[in-house]
Amino acid sequence: MSSTASSTAAPMPLVARGARPLAGRVRVPGDKSISHRALILGALSVGRTTVTGLLEGEDVLATGKAMSLLGATVARTGPGAWTVDGVGVGGFAAPPETLDFGNAGTGSRLVMGAVAGCPVTAMFDGDASLRRRPMRRILDPLVKMGATVLQAAEGDRLPIMLAGARDPLPIVYATPVPSAQVKSAVLLAGLSAPGETVVIESEATRDHTEKMLLHFGATVTVVPEGAHGRRITLKGQPELHGATVVVPADPSSAAFPLVAALLVPGSDIVLETVMTNPLRTGLITTLREMGAAIEEVDAREDGGEAMADLRVRFSELSGVEVPPERAPAMIDEYPVLAVAAAFARGTTVMRGLKELRVKESDRLAATADLLRVNGVTVTLDGDDMIVEGFGGKGRPPGGGTVATHMDHRIAMSALVMGLATETPVAVDDAAFIATSFPGFVETMRGLGADIG
Ligand code: S3P
Repeated sequence: MSSTASSTAAPMPLVARGARPLAGRVRVPGDKSISHRALILGALSVGRTTVTGLLEGEDVLATGKAMSLLGATVARTGPGAWTVDGVGVGGFAAPPETLDFGNAGTGSRLVMGAVAGCPVTAMFDGDASLRRRPMRRILDPLVKMGATVLQAAEGDRLPIMLAGARDPLPIVYATPVPSAQVKSAVLLAGLSAPGETVVIESEATRDHTEKMLLHFGATVTVVPEGAHGRRITLKGQPELHGATVVVPADPSSAAFPLVAALLVPGSDIVLETVMTNPLRTGLITTLREMGAAIEEVDAREDGGEAMADLRVRFSELSGVEVPPERAPAMIDEYPVLAVAAAFARGTTVMRGLKELRVKESDRLAATADLLRVNGVTVTLDGDDMIVEGFGGKGRPPGGGTVATHMDHRIAMSALVMGLATETPVAVDDAAFIATSFPGFVETMRGLGADIG
């Protein structure tokens, strides 16, 4: 069983009420994807990695604990400041206990890849939400590379006992689903294989693993593949050297105060140092198409990642059609986009959302329910979601209690909605917000939101 706080604590209901204009500057916590990767690549390097701005949410802390159980030395030296003394590529030791990833799909799947390239056996587990999520997509390529699944629950789900390969094989792998987690697991396993490991994706997904591998000293080449895809080639058995990683603010967390400022009349806020990697900014592109006033100020780069301060002001939004090929660049942002769509003038159509069904919850169903319980008309048509907006006619009524299904992003999206609906919006359990955005409620209150 999981030992993480959110899965064992009593449910934490919360209510968000109509807010006065939001104002001020905030920096949301560090990017979750980059934080996981910094700890994992630090552990697979020789020498010391220094990380600043690490997201100290439950998901990332679980990855940090897994890295120490696998033999790295992971230490916190200050708020968001961590060091990792690594064991080198292929150097993991057999962990003395189960690696418990709590709620974290990214942590569990990336570490499976890293373990698959080492001659050790590890038991992987997580909370009830993670135990429901598909792992076959990760195990398939890792087995091709020489790993062995010694034990798995029905449907190839957690808990899973994985034996890494003694002599990992490089593979050429076309990912069957657009998933940065699958791509990253193959590349991490490929570190220990001789020759070249190649991942081909038909739709480009977030490229933090590729960028960070380069930053730690690996040789990685990326070329376009088809209309929207990429072919990534990693030269195996590099010596990775400890590096300095500065983690920018997470655009997927910034999305919540950002949409709140767009919806609450009179708001004007600045979100500091938000990562603006184009494979993560589909939400900003879409909101701008809807008429949102989002301004990038002081654009800059660090460690290969682009970032900027974002000034966001209240805006009258209009419905748009979001094309399916944009989904990978905003896959975690659909719940909060759907909330924005409920306030927009006209209809918003979001296409190609199949992957939302296998997130921390069935996010497609949970998002539709979130809106419906607050008086919004939503249609699910296969993998598409269609939201009828109240713009020009008033505001969505609100007044519902949203079932969050152990899903942090459903909880935060519902609370953002309640800041602008006619009547308050409640959530049944806000505890899981701590997996990705510790301090969410305090941050929102600091901007003037009424959440309690
Ligand atoms: C992530 C990839 C995405 C995303 C998740 C983080 C990553 O998942 O939803 O929150 O850091 O690689 P998929 O790769 O399954 O789409």
